[in-house]
Amino acid sequence: PVLVVDFGAQYAQLIARRVREADVYSEIVPHTMPVSEMLARNPVAFILSGGPSSVYEAGAPQVDPALFEAGVPAFGICYGFQAMARALGGEVAHTGQREFGGTPLRLGGDRGVILRDLPAAPSVWMSHGDAVSAAPPGFTVTASSPGAPVAAFEAPERGLAGVQFHPEVGHTPNGQDILRRFLYDIAKVEPTWNTRNIIDDQVAAIRSTVGDAQVLCALSGGVDSAVAAALVHKAIGDQLTCVFVDHGLLRAGEAEQVEKDYVSATGIRLKVVDAEERFLKALAGVSDPEQKRKIIGREFIRVFEQAAREVDAERHIEFLVQGTLYPDVVESGGGTGTANIKSHHNVGGLPDDLKFQLVEPLRTLFKDEVRALGSALGLPDGMVWRHPFPGPGLAIRIIGSVDRERLDVLRVADKIAREELTAAGLDRDVWQFPVVLLADVRSVGVQGDGRTYGHPVVLRPVSSEDAMTADWSRLPFDVIAKISTRITNEVREVNRVVLDVTSKPPGTIEWE
Ligand code: XMP
Repeated sequence: PVLVVDFGAQYAQLIARRVREADVYSEIVPHTMPVSEMLARNPVAFILSGGPSSVYEAGAPQVDPALFEAGVPAFGICYGFQAMARALGGEVAHTGQREFGGTPLRLGGDRGVILRDLPAAPSVWMSHGDAVSAAPPGFTVTASSPGAPVAAFEAPERGLAGVQFHPEVGHTPNGQDILRRFLYDIAKVEPTWNTRNIIDDQVAAIRSTVGDAQVLCALSGGVDSAVAAALVHKAIGDQLTCVFVDHGLLRAGEAEQVEKDYVSATGIRLKVVDAEERFLKALAGVSDPEQKRKIIGREFIRVFEQAAREVDAERHIEFLVQGTLYPDVVESGGGTGTANIKSHHNVGGLPDDLKFQLVEPLRTLFKDEVRALGSALGLPDGMVWRHPFPGPGLAIRIIGSVDRERLDVLRVADKIAREELTAAGLDRDVWQFPVVLLADVRSVGVQGDGRTYGHPVVLRPVSSEDAMTADWSRLPFDVIAKISTRITNEVREVNRVVLDVTSKPPGTIEWE
């Protein structure tokens, strides 16, 4: 792999994703990992990420110079660039000049290898206080910026290069070209990481893990479990049984998608448990969000365990498939010591004490790779491109207690919003589009000649990279207008539609 050495900023995952987008496999390791351990992973190259510290701060993470002595190519970014400069005999200075945001880059007379493809005066994304004031001996300086006398350097024959700016972010328009030049021309890495290979590798790995044992998988309706199960099915076919607990809190058409489209696309054996009644009974009269989550989590586990016991009695299950993704592995420490930056509220997930061994075929993959896999495996588009959806489903999008009538009202409003978003071709421009029913609020309206006293519905379209932060999506007003008109026309109980224009933080994506 290309090892992305994480210096503690949020950028490491983005770098790892960009490397994969260049068709090269990458993994993230913490900067605290001993170099010998990194080398034991046979890296084809290192990329040193940005980080929040100044190299001068007490306790600032440094690079062990041994990392550069193993003959493995290395690319430094921002903090990683400065740490690299220092480790190799260059100088880093407190310039007193902070540079933040889009910055014009002045290319040197010699652009070297990595900046070769750039247009004159490209804009790059900067975020730094310190700056490299002298490149290490033997390095060519290929660019500067107003706040960084040395904004890029390289020693291609030694496999080394670095940049002060962030090539991995979208705000550096030519960033991906720069990463590619490093990977292909300096590190001489072959671009062999693609969907075909991922599938072949995983299928082989699953077969060797599972042998002829029987395997169980819980489908949620989401893309992760669907792709995980499809991969396992491709590997071991009939040894897989899936269970789908229909808790009655899904959106319009989603249960059918799992029960029909998915099964016909994959041929997977599916046991459907219709548990709507049970969930609604347990939720009756409950309006506190955390109570709702607890009840749904508890009921889900009970229902799933019962179903698992039934399948087990028939075929003796040894393995359970989980759709764990790489960001979860990295963020929960991943056994590599990375700081835990996210606490998961995986409500609607499975207990960790089930007596099965785990199969996690997506453990090394990012979401976009999972989607590409899903398409390659022939899954329905609606499932592959489904927006993230919380385990507790529509129950946490009804503000107030949950019952079937309210669910049906919300389902229609939500369906309209999704239809119009799709019709406008905007599905992939928003991260999520919760539609929330304020079931305990009423407002006065007028429809036809009559006064109405109905409920408001909130539209909450958001843009995000990872759900940790988000901004409200600036959807075109005519799309919002169309959704509003249709909802108030087609859903009798709703007489008002409002748009949530709060970012996260301070708001969360969901209302509960
Ligand atoms: P918030 O509302 O915290 O949501 O900004 C962040 C992301 O998590 C999803 N979410 C949940 N997912 N169980 C889940 O499986 C939950 O209880 C839950 N609550 C929120 C939310 O949809 C968003 O993608």
